[in-house]
Amino acid sequence: MLKIAVLVSGGGTNLQALIDAQARGELHNGQIACVISSRPDAYALERAEKAGIPREVLVRREFPTQDDYDSALLALLARYDAGLVVLAGFMTIISARVTGAYRERILNIRPALIASFCGPGYYGLRVHEAALARGVKVTGATVHFVNEVCDGGPIVLQKAVEVREDDTPETLQRRVMEEAEWKILPRAVSLFCEGRLEVDGLRVRIRKEGESA
Ligand code: GAR
Repeated sequence: MLKIAVLVSGGGTNLQALIDAQARGELHNGQIACVISSRPDAYALERAEKAGIPREVLVRREFPTQDDYDSALLALLARYDAGLVVLAGFMTIISARVTGAYRERILNIRPALIASFCGPGYYGLRVHEAALARGVKVTGATVHFVNEVCDGGPIVLQKAVEVREDDTPETLQRRVMEEAEWKILPRAVSLFCEGRLEVDGLRVRIRKEGESA
């Protein structure tokens, strides 16, 4: 079983999707080993507690330097023997030291179709505000590997969601979560844990079930 560390900052609905998938036996060869929150008041921590998953809080501003914070994060990940790190609505920037230590072992879910509405400043509700302002007819969600470039890593899965004329940022955010994020994140995590993701530059090939590496 591959140990998974899930990093969160807010409501934790994507964490919940992972917990539910695990309960249904859909995280093949994966087990959520810990939840690490960037905020002590994140509701995601309650979801972890209800599911009996160990919880940790790591607040960036409580560390004098980025290096001190990175050391603490890396120590936590090592303590839980994490083979995969999942950013599920995690709002603290991951440094090059951490992405380097977990190369192609960090997955992120983001609420748009890369390469639209991505990069610094595009997170949470802001992404949906930007999509509506631009008047796109289709948006969606992306699971990608995290590298040194913000939202620039290899794409694992994407799912499109239609924009409606009467959408508000809030209704669009909810539909993107329901129709896309909560589906593709557990699926991508399971594919990773099964060893079915083959990364070649920016491209990710999904091996067929039973196909050897
Ligand atoms: C999700 O929509 C996720 O895609 C987004 O934050 C929300 C977290 O919700 N992530 C980002 O914007 C990362 N750049 P949740 O806490 O309910 O899972």
